[in-house]
Amino acid sequence: MLKINKLSCGYGSLTVVHELDLNVSEGSIHALVGANGAGKSTTLMTIAGHVQVKSGSIMIGSEQLDQVPTKERVRRGVALVPEGRRLFSDLTVRDNLEVGGYSLPKENISRNLERVLTMFPRLGERIKQESGLLSGGEQQMLAIGRALMAEPKLLLLDELSLGLMPRMVEDCYIALQQLQSEGMTILLVEQNTQQALSAADDVTVLESGTVAWQGTAEKARQDSSIIEAYIGLRREPKTD
Ligand SMILES: Nc1ncnc2c1ncn2[C@@H]1O[C@H](COP(=O)(O)OP(=O)(O)OP(=O)(O)O)[C@@H](O)[C@H]1O
Ligand SMILES: [Mg+2]
Repeated sequence: MLKINKLSCGYGSLTVVHELDLNVSEGSIHALVGANGAGKSTTLMTIAGHVQVKSGSIMIGSEQLDQVPTKERVRRGVALVPEGRRLFSDLTVRDNLEVGGYSLPKENISRNLERVLTMFPRLGERIKQESGLLSGGEQQMLAIGRALMAEPKLLLLDELSLGLMPRMVEDCYIALQQLQSEGMTILLVEQNTQQALSAADDVTVLESGTVAWQGTAEKARQDSSIIEAYIGLRREPKTD
């Protein structure tokens, strides 16, 4: 489904991600974890078309994506739920959702809206409310809902559970499982490694923009030293 081959990307002259190889098979959840600054958000934003590819390739199925404009990537089925959610805070819940489906015909928008509100009934209860007044958990649901409005095949989720109460985290993960059961492919970035591992099929650990470990989530769950070794190492204060 998503095939990233030797991808290097970054900002201006700064290369943040170096020769990244990453495959996400159709209908799977792939967790991308790593310490602050490892390049997780940069990777997602590059797939979505917001950050410059320096070399390597990004394929969705048989289509090469790295030279395709951002808007066209949305049409081809790539949707990003960005870190910090980036909602239009003075627009209502409904307007935010409709923005997500802007490129689709009207009948698709109303069908997708219904689907999102079935998945997240709380959004239905607050449909006329300005999104800036929603709780953190509701805002995250809205950000996911907005991405779903575009009918994605590949959902890129950045920091799904950051700042949310456990109950909200649970609700978001239930939604993810439902999406996966409907055939969605998901690339998930999480600070909450345990949570990510419990939902994911596969995992990539990024360290300073390169792959430190890659394998099945089952293997990582069975041997927690794998993840602790990489993430733990990078959280130790520097001595020099
Ligand atoms: N717009 C930007 N311009 C220049 N450098 C940037 C920009 N955004 C991020 N960086 C740098 O790229 C590196 C990777 O950042 P990125 O946000 O991808 O990390 P991350 O793994 O998502 O971290 P976090 O867990 O804190 O969200 C960092 O060193 C960061 O300072
Ligand atoms: Mg990030």
